[in-house]
Amino acid sequence: MFELFEKQALRATEEYVQEVFSDEGSGHDWWHIHRVRKMALRIAETEGGNLFIIEMAALLHDIDDWKLNAENSSKVSAWLKKLKINHLQSLLILEIINQVSFKGAGVENRATTIEAKIVQDADRLDAIGAIGIARAFAYGGHKNRLLHIPDSTPEFHADFESYKKNQSSTVNHFYEKLLLLKNSLNTETAIEIAKNRHIFMEEFLEQFFAEWEGNE
Ligand code: ADP
Ligand code: NI
Repeated sequence: MFELFEKQALRATEEYVQEVFSDEGSGHDWWHIHRVRKMALRIAETEGGNLFIIEMAALLHDIDDWKLNAENSSKVSAWLKKLKINHLQSLLILEIINQVSFKGAGVENRATTIEAKIVQDADRLDAIGAIGIARAFAYGGHKNRLLHIPDSTPEFHADFESYKKNQSSTVNHFYEKLLLLKNSLNTETAIEIAKNRHIFMEEFLEQFFAEWEGNE
């Protein structure tokens, strides 16, 4: 399947990413990366794509995240150079990573290659369902957000700047992002997987509001 060089590059990258994320508690821990990689490879089984590119991009997709490192240095390109990944493959990997992140409900960021579509889908699937709920509240806690603010309306973020500045409750985040994700998926395989996860979030919110009112 993989050539020796690719195997070694993947192994080294896995160790590098594990090291970088070892103390990250905002929902961007190593295990998020681990799940995204696993899911991306699962989606690729039915959707195709170059497995080396997919796995490398999945492993590296959050290294240069705008929320985690403000100066937005390109650690990924430096890492790919260090590994002596060829120029074309590096470009493909960097392009996927660039296309993966969500920048607000009104901001289009379309994945152009099958590899990018798959990694984007895998990342988005990890933001919904039971894991998505857990991550949202972990992130909200990290940012000192309230669980829920009754009567506050969710904001539709038409641009990346307003999404970045957003300060609403974690429950609002479901309406601003998480419940929209199932309609932003690229591949049939991911759309299928998203169905149960989406229903689970809807049921969670229903129960949450019932308990909030003391009705459950
Ligand atoms: P990803 O790595 O999946 O692209 P993000 O970097 O956008 O995710 O965010 C990391 C996690 O934190 C996701 O599960 C996301 O839904 C959650 N999150 C992001 N912004 C907020 C927010 N404003 N409130 C609550 N959770 C959030
Ligand atoms: Ni991610």
